[in-house]
Amino acid sequence: MAKMAFCFWVLLLSLPLLISAGRSGVVSQNTFEVKKQLKQLNKPAVKSIKSPDGDVIDCVHVSHQPAFDHPLMQNHTIQMRPNFYPEGVSEESMKITSSSKSSKPINTQLWHTKGRCPKGTIPVRRTKRKDLLRASTIKSYGKKVHKSIPKPRSADPGFTSQSGHQHAIVYVEGDKYYGAKATLNVWEPKIQQPNEFSLSQIWILGGTFGEDLNSIEAGWQVSPDLYGDNNTRLFTYWTSDAYQATGCYNLLCSGFIQINNEIAMGASIYPVSSAYKGSQFDINILVWKDPKEGNWWMQFGNNYVLGYWPAFLFPYLSDSASMIEWGGEVVNSESEGQHTSTQMGSGHFPDEGFGKAGYFRNIQIVDGSNNLRDPKDIGIFTEQPNCYNVKTGKMGEWGNYFYYGGPGRNPNCP
Ligand SMILES: *[C@@H]1O[C@H](CO)[C@@H](O)[C@H](O)[C@H]1NC(C)=O
Ligand SMILES: *[C@@H]1O[C@H](CO)[C@@H](O)[C@H](O)[C@H]1NC(C)=O
Repeated sequence: MAKMAFCFWVLLLSLPLLISAGRSGVVSQNTFEVKKQLKQLNKPAVKSIKSPDGDVIDCVHVSHQPAFDHPLMQNHTIQMRPNFYPEGVSEESMKITSSSKSSKPINTQLWHTKGRCPKGTIPVRRTKRKDLLRASTIKSYGKKVHKSIPKPRSADPGFTSQSGHQHAIVYVEGDKYYGAKATLNVWEPKIQQPNEFSLSQIWILGGTFGEDLNSIEAGWQVSPDLYGDNNTRLFTYWTSDAYQATGCYNLLCSGFIQINNEIAMGASIYPVSSAYKGSQFDINILVWKDPKEGNWWMQFGNNYVLGYWPAFLFPYLSDSASMIEWGGEVVNSESEGQHTSTQMGSGHFPDEGFGKAGYFRNIQIVDGSNNLRDPKDIGIFTEQPNCYNVKTGKMGEWGNYFYYGGPGRNPNCP
């Protein structure tokens, strides 16, 4: 009896020790994982630049970038320029810069005020320990956690509640598309919850909307969980399996090959449109396919060819894309059982027009003859027009354009 009691007490006394040993085991495992992941993401830098917004930009030798971690990239020869541009790019760019008085072109990032990356390197936004610790798991950092397939026509009520994502987009489908272009008005929408985001982008899509969707995405976003602040940032995303195992934002996995030494993916865009009826700022984005090598290239502004997604990443984009979308997306986490007040675009509805609502202008596609063309038969899609809406139009210098966005929660969107 006494012996049993003794055993019992020993067990009871040692229990907290066992628990704390278990905990510290988890912690050191975690620390190890964090270190390993940081080492994987942050490549050795030739030079590092501290941006006023708190970012550190590492200038990484072009051949040391994350893309080359991929086993299929071992023997890849970097393309230092595209073989080919779609017809009509240069005239289009020149026309916009020379004739548009209402909006000034943006061609700088904040970190440029503190230095530049030398030739032969690329600027990479450094991932910090605290960035990884904000992610739900260390491995999921830089990946879209919820599936967020913006599939027009599936506007059944189940779709909205299932994914929690809200879109206000325009799209074209039913043809073969070899690229897309747009000029995106840039704002700094307010985000209600750190795990929500607001983005405005172009989607280049192939495959079906099931398990095999191939998607190339580029635009601007505010994402507190990803970046640790509320700044508006330039981003790209890709996936080849409907956001399951492949793909990531920016250079946060092996995929995109950057060649440009001036523009950092994920860096803050400066300036942005910030006042109602104030100065408007916008950025140009062009994504197109090199018909010879099959790579998908991206250009930012009129002068910066950022790099490319290698052809092998996208089995369903090996010929062409089957759908293009342009517009906004937010996460609606419905905390407190109400619609989120996270804004899309400027946070104002399309009806309010220029200087108030956000816009995309000069939306174009690249056709089978590699010409930039106006899209035909533009469709629009939004799950809840009382929360976020879209309104299209066509006029002079702006070509095909649309206003989009909204405030989220309001009396008509409870
Ligand atoms: C790279 O080249 C080497 C030597 O030619 C070859 O053995 C290897 O299989 C190649 N790797 C890939 C992924 O193509
Ligand atoms: C981001 O904005 C939210 C309100 O929209 C605010 O509560 C939060 O403190 C901001 N975060 C940072 C890092 O500034």
